[in-house]
Amino acid sequence: MKDEIMAIKKCMGKDLCILGHHYQNDQVIACTDIQGDSLELARKIPDLEAKNIVFCGVSFMAESAAILATGSQRVFAPVPDARCVMAGMAPGYLVRRVVEHISSSGKKIIPLAYVNSSAEVKAICGQFAGAVCTSANADKMLSWALDQGDLVLFLPDKNLGRNTGKNLGLKDQDMAILNLKEPELSSKISLALWPGLCAVHFRFKQDHVLKIRRENPLAKIVVHPECDPTIVALADASGSTSFIIDYVQGLKPGSTVYIGTETNLVHRLAAKYLHEKTVLPLVESYCSNMNKTMEVDILNILRAVHAGTATEITVPGETSKLARKALETMLKVC
Ligand code: 13P
Ligand code: SF4
Repeated sequence: MKDEIMAIKKCMGKDLCILGHHYQNDQVIACTDIQGDSLELARKIPDLEAKNIVFCGVSFMAESAAILATGSQRVFAPVPDARCVMAGMAPGYLVRRVVEHISSSGKKIIPLAYVNSSAEVKAICGQFAGAVCTSANADKMLSWALDQGDLVLFLPDKNLGRNTGKNLGLKDQDMAILNLKEPELSSKISLALWPGLCAVHFRFKQDHVLKIRRENPLAKIVVHPECDPTIVALADASGSTSFIIDYVQGLKPGSTVYIGTETNLVHRLAAKYLHEKTVLPLVESYCSNMNKTMEVDILNILRAVHAGTATEITVPGETSKLARKALETMLKVC
């Protein structure tokens, strides 16, 4: 399979670019031209020379790529039904209902959607003068959003929202998790959090961190900000997948580091620093959707792209226009 993938890549040359998120498995990563976190990959799209972009990740990533693509670019996903569970926790119809309900009270609500959300949700952000953020720029984007209106609705990840609010100095009483049945908010709240979370990062518990602290006090702990705020508070550092990669790289030889994020990335780092640093998972936690993409899926999509029979990822016109506005606001602010 690898030989045929490489042969198609060679044949298509500059007309093809394969992008892969850091959580993809090693076989998939070996086929990619560019790897990155959500922000880095989104940023790259408009400047890519390739007309055909194959995005290995989950559906919101390929969708965002399709929204940001230029008119001559086409985006393909090897497994279009690989979906982010967290993104599914904020269905567009419900987000719209809540945003309209809060707006009807006269408050200027600024929706700020984590990139892990559907195109429909991003479009609502575009429509209500909000924006998109990623884990790599959440501080900057939330700070921007807080200056734009009376109240920010951060969605779908309550953990990233709270962790970011804390980074900016917000207190617990400034933030509240929305009750979706009764989305009334006290006037003191400046940051409303949608009650979504990532099932993969939910597996990391305080006890895991405390046990490591007891047994190996010199070990470092770095986690993704999708973890519960209690875990982030106990860790030495937290940040996007690329931040985690840089953090491990910056550690002295001989160091031990535990990582609280998706296991494919942790194992890749462990292999990379095998004789230099000890890299361990806080707990093994795989994203089942990120792991749906296999080498055979890349081969199949490349065959179809090469033959001109592949189905492109598309987002309907008005949704795409408004979602693009929200994504471009992010790229402009950052
Ligand atoms: P990054 O933006 O850090 O790459 O994370 C995306 C993601 O899905 C984390 O679960
Ligand atoms: Fe979504 Fe969590 Fe998987 Fe990231 S790790 S794609 S947030 S389910």
